[in-house]
Amino acid sequence: MLHNIDINKMNALMEENHDAKQIITQLLDNHHETVSTIAHEIRNPLTLISSSLQVMEIQHPEVQEFPHWKQTMEDVDFVCQLLSELSTFNNGDTLHYSVFSIERLLKNIAVSFAISLDSEDSDVEFTSDIPSGLGDFTGDKVKLEEVFLNLLKNAKESISGEGSINLFASRTKDTLTIKCKDTGCGISEEIIDYIFEPFKTYKEGGTGLGLSLSKRIIESHGGTISVESKIDEGSMFTIKLPI
Ligand SMILES: Nc1ncnc2c1ncn2[C@@H]1O[C@H](COP(=O)(O)OP(=O)(O)OP(=O)(O)O)[C@@H](O)[C@H]1O
Ligand SMILES: [Mg+2]
Repeated sequence: MLHNIDINKMNALMEENHDAKQIITQLLDNHHETVSTIAHEIRNPLTLISSSLQVMEIQHPEVQEFPHWKQTMEDVDFVCQLLSELSTFNNGDTLHYSVFSIERLLKNIAVSFAISLDSEDSDVEFTSDIPSGLGDFTGDKVKLEEVFLNLLKNAKESISGEGSINLFASRTKDTLTIKCKDTGCGISEEIIDYIFEPFKTYKEGGTGLGLSLSKRIIESHGGTISVESKIDEGSMFTIKLPI
């Protein structure tokens, strides 16, 4: 893993020397591709294992009573998810641009999220303030959707019992602002500086890729993502995207 100091040296080298810039860029691309390929290759047989286990469960429902069966199924699912996120993480910078209505995207996400809370019989109240007139946005719709879902998922996971989540959007002439606010557990000062780093997770079953992936996606759109939080009061994530 490269440290900040190495990255600074590498950037300096790339600025000074055009050939070095080309070679390093190519090496980094190769590196990303290798990691994505490995993740993808491991996921294929793992998906087969997961399907076989599901078939076994259907044909022999009694296996569900076996010790560790449920845990094994969950672990296999988790590794599948981890590999898929690792593969996406490596492709975080490659954007597929299209022009779309940000209002419609956010409203669709809000509806799906509200339905998922309902289906879980959750005590979390969800509200959204998404005005009409946000206009068209040029960006990677799928990746941005993933970012907003990551924030909502984290918000939901931060609340145990009752609480509320709000998704807010506004637009000025040149900036689109999206805020996701929750009344969850908040983020302590000790960890707040690390939460956007890959594999930093402070929850059971987390991969720690959600926020780092989100940050990469937002930054590759030229935007910023920031957080304000108070322990036991809640958190607010703010995304700013240039239009
Ligand atoms: N809304 C939030 N409220 C409180 N803590 C949060 C919130 N969002 C993120 N965090 C903290 O930041 C950490 C990193 O979040 P991130 O989404 O990157 O990973 P994760 O949620 O732990 O795992 P994954 O997203 O892969 O399920 C979380 O483990 C949690 O401690
Ligand atoms: Mg998360």
